[in-house]
Amino acid sequence: MGFYNDIILPRICDLAMRNKQLRPYRERVIGAAEGRVLEIGIGSGRNLPFYRPLVTDLLALEPAPKLIAMAREAPHPGTPVNFIEASAEAIPLDDSSVDTVVTTWTLCSIPDAAMALTEMRRVLRPAGKLLFVEHGMAPDKNVRRWQDWLTPAWRCISGGCHLNRPISTMIEAAGFRIDRVETGYMPGPKAMTFMYEGSARPN
Ligand SMILES: C[S@@+](CC[C@H](N)C(=O)[O-])C[C@H]1O[C@@H](n2cnc3c(N)ncnc32)[C@H](O)[C@@H]1O
Repeated sequence: MGFYNDIILPRICDLAMRNKQLRPYRERVIGAAEGRVLEIGIGSGRNLPFYRPLVTDLLALEPAPKLIAMAREAPHPGTPVNFIEASAEAIPLDDSSVDTVVTTWTLCSIPDAAMALTEMRRVLRPAGKLLFVEHGMAPDKNVRRWQDWLTPAWRCISGGCHLNRPISTMIEAAGFRIDRVETGYMPGPKAMTFMYEGSARPN
């Protein structure tokens, strides 16, 4: 994939995801995970310290080998972590085999996010839950215009990140019922900081 994608991009991803403002989101979202958990796009492992003992088994899916190597070095929870080098569009797990799926700031970068969400629903047990915090499409017209305008260039330098994905709509379209979603801007450029945080269950 080349020097930029293999070496530079994982470091940029790690630096960006160290942002201290993300910590309260991580604490809330990861703190609600339980049972057999699948985290989608674990990146450099920034969520790992927030998993609680209610998690019995943690599966960490990530397509980028360099990020897996970084996550292996991150502070780990007590629970053993099994890393899976794969894409979310084809999750190598059985149907109805996990209790919680976690996605944090990952749906923006997955090329076929609709397929990935369909896969997340497939592997979730019927009573399982999807926990998410993602940035995406803002409610304000002016901000949306910037998001649409910036996304083509932004995608090229950021590892495929889309600024304008309608997160709640995409989750529902994949066959989930959203139990809770909180939205709002985090401090920072508005085009990049409109957050969706919540949980959903398979329909
Ligand atoms: C902005 S980073 C977020 C990392 C991590 N979730 C966090 O909260 O720190 C986006 C992540 O999505 C991952 N990603 C991109 N395409 C993916 C795909 N097709 N399947 C799974 N993960 C993917 C990237 O490799 C990267 O780890």
